[in-house]
Amino acid sequence: MSSKILVLAGDGIGPEIMAEATKVLSFVDNKFGLDLHVDEALVGGAAIDAEGSALPERTFELAKAADAILLGAVGGPKWDNLPPAERPEKGGLLKIRAELDLFGNLRPAILYPQLADASSLKPEVVSGLDILIVRELTGGIYFGGPRGIRTLDSGEREGFNTYVYSESEIVRIGRQAFEAARKRGGRLCSVDKANVLEVTMLWREVMEELSKDYPDVELSHMYVDNAAMQLVRAPKQFDVIVTGNMFGDILSDAAAMLTGSIGMLPSASLDINGRGMYEPCHGSAPDIAGQGKANPLATILSVAMMLRYSLAQIEAADFIERAVEKVLDKGYRTGDIFSEGCKLVSTSEMGDAVLAALTAQ
Ligand code: NAI
Ligand code: MG
Repeated sequence: MSSKILVLAGDGIGPEIMAEATKVLSFVDNKFGLDLHVDEALVGGAAIDAEGSALPERTFELAKAADAILLGAVGGPKWDNLPPAERPEKGGLLKIRAELDLFGNLRPAILYPQLADASSLKPEVVSGLDILIVRELTGGIYFGGPRGIRTLDSGEREGFNTYVYSESEIVRIGRQAFEAARKRGGRLCSVDKANVLEVTMLWREVMEELSKDYPDVELSHMYVDNAAMQLVRAPKQFDVIVTGNMFGDILSDAAAMLTGSIGMLPSASLDINGRGMYEPCHGSAPDIAGQGKANPLATILSVAMMLRYSLAQIEAADFIERAVEKVLDKGYRTGDIFSEGCKLVSTSEMGDAVLAALTAQ
């Protein structure tokens, strides 16, 4: 069965890293007979320049029709003076996430043994680290209302947001996390602040109820302040973490740093049917754009996630992940992951090295 993939390269280093990722995608398409139909479209600043909108109609239509979307990164100083709603991030990327209801954000944090030096923690604390953070992406305090800044009768100003999750929102992110845990180590830790916040008391209750449907997954609960501490004290105790939008935002960035470089981290944002958008965790890196310095591995690993989660092509996904490990074994490094004694390579040389490893497998 043919699958429709939409490629959105975006801005800055986006086109450079995407060129390498699409090489890998077409290699596995041929090798595994995936019958992929790949479209490309403009998004973000590139789309603003060409068509006056960060999310042109054609792009949005293709996004809705796609089985999966592969995104580079959007944004850059060139568009920073536009009104926020028209900027590449809000007008392009966030709009796709919201309109397609991509509520389930999966962020794996894996420390490749070859990069142990790059972590901010001691090797014995992080070696072998392989955790997955499942963050709710379209609800919680970032989206709840009422919200705003008002002036009270006293003349004092007051800022306010609303932290709200409906039961159905908790159920759908919970199910995604239990399913993900089932495919991995079988352990799920739900992170909340149920000792203080009612919304997360409901979160905890719903996770407990859901766990009856997943007897093969061991569910535990942790308060978010303790989770932050445990992530830097003993991160390997975790398998899958599920949490709300704001806690997930913070914890996933902390977890990312345990693994060394943001240039290594892929992500998935999924809807209820497993359709999704896949992208590196980093941004458009204007400081190194156009110089062939960007690490394309996060985007290449996002291709692997896409094959695994949206297309159920596990073998092809494993194949790509193994090739990335081989390239690291051979000592190829872009600047962000470089250390003494390794081979410093450009963006396209890194992509070529992955292709060579894929061919040799
Ligand atoms: P950034 O992630 O683009 O860059 C942070 C630092 O990491 C920079 O020093 C950059 O050179 C480096 N870096 C990032 N990706 C790298 C890679 N693949 N290889 C090597 N080094 C890499 O974050 P920053 O600088 O805060 O934002 C730059 C622009 O990107 C802004 O316009 C921001 O709004 C946008 N952005 C877009 C995102 C997206 O499209 N998903 C996410 C985050 C930021
Ligand atoms: Mg963040």
